[in-house]
Amino acid sequence: MVSEPYFIDRVEETIQLTGSLAASQNIILYSPRRYGKTSLIMKVAGELRKRGITVIYFDLFRANSRESFLELYYQSILKSVPGWEKIMRKVAGLLKASRPVVIMDKNGLPSVTLDFDRRLQSQSFTEVVDLPEKLAGKERWVVIFDEFQEISRLNGQDFEKELRAVIQHHKNVNYVLMGSKKHLLPGMVTRRDRAFYNFGKPVNLEKISEAEWIRSISAKMQSTGIPFNVEKIISLIAMAENIPYYVQYLASKVWELAIGGQTEGDLLNLAVSRLINNQSDYYMTLWNNLSILQQNTLNALVIENSKVFSKDFISRHRLGTSSGVQSAIKVLLNDGILDFHNDEYIFEDPFFRQWIIG
Ligand SMILES: Nc1ncnc2c1ncn2[C@@H]1O[C@H](COP(=O)(O)OP(=O)(O)OP(=O)(O)O)[C@@H](O)[C@H]1O
Ligand SMILES: [Mg+2]
Repeated sequence: MVSEPYFIDRVEETIQLTGSLAASQNIILYSPRRYGKTSLIMKVAGELRKRGITVIYFDLFRANSRESFLELYYQSILKSVPGWEKIMRKVAGLLKASRPVVIMDKNGLPSVTLDFDRRLQSQSFTEVVDLPEKLAGKERWVVIFDEFQEISRLNGQDFEKELRAVIQHHKNVNYVLMGSKKHLLPGMVTRRDRAFYNFGKPVNLEKISEAEWIRSISAKMQSTGIPFNVEKIISLIAMAENIPYYVQYLASKVWELAIGGQTEGDLLNLAVSRLINNQSDYYMTLWNNLSILQQNTLNALVIENSKVFSKDFISRHRLGTSSGVQSAIKVLLNDGILDFHNDEYIFEDPFFRQWIIG
């Protein structure tokens, strides 16, 4: 996650998302990993707060069960409300099946947990999920569920259904459902048989433009007199496959080498090989945990990455059967090694791809 002053670009996206949310639209925001969704939505949250809208941010990765979802979501709601002590009293009246309890943490700071009446779990669920709507009163609130695809870990599609059943009645609250697994999240909202079908406006976040990167990286390099011309910056962006996280990561490595007094040789290639070396133990473990077919599929994908189930592709790379490749790719997608974007299978980590190429 990045915020000011390092946050660049995304001007259009910020205006568009802020406008849609202020105009009461639900949003489904997705992209492959590390494109900058969380950074963007935090920027949008700041804009909404300036307009007096209360924003709650909740990362579904934090919850590993239905109970922990309720408890952590509840805490996020309270923390997002200005003057939460006052709100506590109001909340106590709204929650019947569960009781808010204030405890002091080891630093002496108050935090709130829920004391659930275990017999009334389903009632607690509705009460907690309805809280934003009730607390909002006549104001507008926005709830952001980050890594929303993780909801499927909580209680399969039943949880999705339960959540949709409650929040679809909310009039004062709009939702942002966002996530990284591009192969999963759109399906959750475009398939008729899924609970969140047609829930909001899909927004597909793309990469940051090359021109914006050139501007920001050359400004930084110039400010310290590092000899790094536009051509070099273009190669840097290409090496990182223009994925925002990796562009920043590689640029900071080059920067580090340069200010460390490294003037000999090609800074960019040196930075790339250092980054790959740093990760090589991890890449080796990742690789060794794959089956031979998964490894062979990746070996083929570093060469070409479209029409991978076609006969030609399979025979060219000696991958056996199309169904075998399909199940290999399914595992690689679920493990977060690959993603699917613009009809191509892409590596989530471009340096892992480089490591495979060798
Ligand atoms: N607007 C931006 N300006 C500059 N750098 C950015 C921007 N957006 C993303 N980045 C870079 O990409 C990194 C990842 O961003 P962020 O965590 O917002 O992405 P994400 O899509 O939410 O990732 P994940 O899929 O892991 O949740 C940031 O730490 C930063 O280095
Ligand atoms: Mg994120």
